[in-house]
Amino acid sequence: MTVLSRIAAVFAALLIALPAAAQVPVRASSPDGLVVVEVGLDGDGRAAYAVSRKGKPIITPSRLGFLFTDVAKIDRSLAITGQETRDFDQTWQQPWGEWSKIRNHYRELKIQFKETKGLGRVFTVTFRIYDDGVGFRYDFPDQLNMHHANIAEELTEFAFAQDGTAWWKPAFLWNREEYLYNKTALSAIGTADTPVSIKLADGTHVALHEAALVDYSGMAVARTEGNTLRAQLTPGAGGPKVVKHGAWTTPWRTLIIADNAAGLYMSHLMLNLNEPNKLGDMSWFKPGKFVGVWWNMIKGEWTWARGPRHGATNEHVKRYIDFAAAQGIPQVLVEGWNVGWDGDWFGNGWDMDFAKPVEDFDADMLAAYAKKKGVRLIGHHETGGAASHYENQFDTAFKFAADHGYMVVKTGYVTDAGQIERVDADGTKYREWHEGQWMSNHLIRVAEAAYKYRIAIDSHEPIKGTGLQRTWPNWVAREGMRGMEYNSWAGKNPPEHEANIVFTRMLEGPMDFTPGVLSLTGENGSAILSTEAKQLALYVVIYSPVVMAADTPENYAQHMPAFKFIRDVATDWDETRVLNGEIGDYVTIARKERGGQTWFLGAVGDEQARTVAFALDFLTPGKRYVAEIYRDGDDADYRTEKRHAMVIEQRPVTAKDSMTLRLAPGGGAAVRFRLVK
Ligand code: NOJ
Ligand code: CA
Repeated sequence: MTVLSRIAAVFAALLIALPAAAQVPVRASSPDGLVVVEVGLDGDGRAAYAVSRKGKPIITPSRLGFLFTDVAKIDRSLAITGQETRDFDQTWQQPWGEWSKIRNHYRELKIQFKETKGLGRVFTVTFRIYDDGVGFRYDFPDQLNMHHANIAEELTEFAFAQDGTAWWKPAFLWNREEYLYNKTALSAIGTADTPVSIKLADGTHVALHEAALVDYSGMAVARTEGNTLRAQLTPGAGGPKVVKHGAWTTPWRTLIIADNAAGLYMSHLMLNLNEPNKLGDMSWFKPGKFVGVWWNMIKGEWTWARGPRHGATNEHVKRYIDFAAAQGIPQVLVEGWNVGWDGDWFGNGWDMDFAKPVEDFDADMLAAYAKKKGVRLIGHHETGGAASHYENQFDTAFKFAADHGYMVVKTGYVTDAGQIERVDADGTKYREWHEGQWMSNHLIRVAEAAYKYRIAIDSHEPIKGTGLQRTWPNWVAREGMRGMEYNSWAGKNPPEHEANIVFTRMLEGPMDFTPGVLSLTGENGSAILSTEAKQLALYVVIYSPVVMAADTPENYAQHMPAFKFIRDVATDWDETRVLNGEIGDYVTIARKERGGQTWFLGAVGDEQARTVAFALDFLTPGKRYVAEIYRDGDDADYRTEKRHAMVIEQRPVTAKDSMTLRLAPGGGAAVRFRLVK
């Protein structure tokens, strides 16, 4: 019996209502049978899909289709001309990451559509149905009546079956991805970047996002009416938001569906919907920590530009190298080391030269000094948004980096949204969006150019993460959210920020958050809204294979007992478990270091004091461990000087024990579980 005849047999019981006169819908379910997708047509031949889980509707019939700038839309008068299903179950290895092995287990349903009138265009919608959600995308073959597609808008809808609470940030505003999350009713979403995370009225959690954003513009969503969201593609520099030639596909539109917040994070759907590694060997890339000539610039004490307060001087960089070498930190970031920062570089990167150090940064001497001390520098390429200017320097820039022993380059695109400078070969200038089609391709060109020199990329002001690190595994991290730097400035990240982003931004993949400011002070001595223990917890809670210890060596010297956790914590993992959490309130994550026996745990809360309790059953049964605990002091509080109050203590534990940790207001806790030999 085919999958389709099997599902046809149970179809009547679970039918999701489609408008009268609809074609009998096509149906398929996840491997465990609990997630069901149905696709059908209404009386006007408009296509819709619906998703249910455990017999309850999640997405009610939602439209599919496209608007074009030059030809009729794809919407009405469609017929289903074919369908296929296939099962897939494979486990693959991540070169680095939060899990070493990932199981990719889904049932695929492909449905062929054809217009019965007009242009007679054909396309396929492919659904991959997982136990923890659904991804679907459109595939268009090259065809006579659509050799070029000028896409004005994608008409994909997401009509949620219930209202709920949504965590979302606004799309298309000047500050790109760097907004705090709103918490509103689902029915009160405006225009939102994805991921949007939703707790439906019945408690089911759903994260709406996209996977494999390649040669297409990023999808935001806007509420249309009721609980319905619709795709809103990022603009391009021209009329169409996306331009395609020949055969083309969209990214996967993804819905992770889980019983609770932890389930959203534990899903591998995003990575699984991307293509395997197409670059090859990644053994040269070693996940690891870095310090850097950075926080003093973010605090306004040093400058990127040349002058009396220049940060990346020989003397400063040597001091950071010495500190890194002494503390076993493998890398040192240098920013403001190159020509181009003098004057107004914001949105203005035409002077940036990534092979030309300034006078007081002796690149050859510092490379030799670092090498002697067993440390590598991380180069910084701040484009100021002049992305074409950057492409013109790819070879010189990455050769310079490789010649000086760098393994990682941090890039930046500091300019307002819609202000990326693109200049085509013929000299024509355009303004592009960070999340647009052209940038989706530019950032992949960066990864590919860097890979030739065995350089990994950490992009700031990037396009959103969509799991492309599976395909381009040297694109190891990105920013794409308000990170630590906001804690220097006025309008600091609130205590709930990290508990928000774990279940939203972090679903995109690694974030270069730059934790670890143990001095808890930003510009002008202003207080960061965190306890000291929480800064340590972030090393476990916020994942990136390149992790900064963002404070200065001088400040760390004042906090050496706490700094020990930063020194000890791993940056590459065999396993990750979210032990508990509620979006925006708290989360506890345990991770096992790759290739080792040590577990690390981080818990962060929000502005309220709370207690988290969890079983230690992730530890290997029958083994004895010492838990090295870094927790908030009993009187710790992010609102007072007591934010530094921390208790460091040790306790013998086994897998049979459980642990209770009290999180102070704005607090957190970090634990290292060391195996007793
Ligand atoms: C913003 C980045 O997030 C930050 O890390 C960097 O130092 C500045 N831009 C300058 O490039
Ligand atoms: Ca909260």
